[in-house]
Amino acid sequence: MPMQTHNNNELHLDPTRIPRHIAIIMDGNGRWAKARGLDRSVGHQKGVETVHTITEEAARIGVQYLTLYAFSTENWNRPAAEVAALMSLVLSSLEESLFMNNNVRLLLIGDTARLPEEICRAVKALEEKTARNTGLTLIVALSYSSKWEIIEAVRSISAKAAAGEVKPEEITEVSLSDSLTTAGIPDPDLLIRTGGEIRLSNFLLWQCAYSELYFCDTYWPDFGREDFHRAISEYQHRERRYGKTGEQVAAEPSLQE
Ligand code: FPP
Repeated sequence: MPMQTHNNNELHLDPTRIPRHIAIIMDGNGRWAKARGLDRSVGHQKGVETVHTITEEAARIGVQYLTLYAFSTENWNRPAAEVAALMSLVLSSLEESLFMNNNVRLLLIGDTARLPEEICRAVKALEEKTARNTGLTLIVALSYSSKWEIIEAVRSISAKAAAGEVKPEEITEVSLSDSLTTAGIPDPDLLIRTGGEIRLSNFLLWQCAYSELYFCDTYWPDFGREDFHRAISEYQHRERRYGKTGEQVAAEPSLQE
């Protein structure tokens, strides 16, 4: 049966093949604002509205994990006023009602040591309040970069090796995955980047080894429910082979889940 839709123009998604984990690089807020002669901060404010729309929609259609790249390690190099505006926007946009009304759990990944104290406190409180929600897990990547977390993981594994707790030959894909900020979270099935750039920008490089990649020109503030469905529909039409042949995949349907 096709998924319940809001209007007749919407794509029909296969409810049995909704990606378990979708990661999004939300790009284009600044250009959206510039095109309208507005300050970049207005683009970020509109971007927060899109965060709410897409979070609600992901929860509604049964996505289990949604990871949003809200602020990268490299974004610390932006003008101080923009950094401050983004931080206060993140703080004000994490509304408890969004999480409680949609049964959404919050997790933050990133270098919390660099974040303002009040953000850490507010996020921690919301993580605790939403810990028992059983629907979507919203993972906000804040002060995050993939190379940063891989270095952190290597440091922690090296310390264990130096202490004799682990032998080098015992280090595996699983033990490295378990040392990342995303430990216990399945790898993204689908990575979406809005805003027209075709790159990964230091986001989930290890975790996206076998993710399907989807790039679109739409600026993040304009990215709506239909655009989200289009990305998922394209994902549902791809064959995920994980290095195997098409014939092997056809004989092993679990690979397509
Ligand atoms: C990229 O646009 C967007 C960002 C760097 C920030 C995105 C953050 C938000 C929308 C707030 C998120 C809040 C939560 C709670 C997840 P850009 O400024 O790089 O745009 P440009 O490439 O057009 O200049």
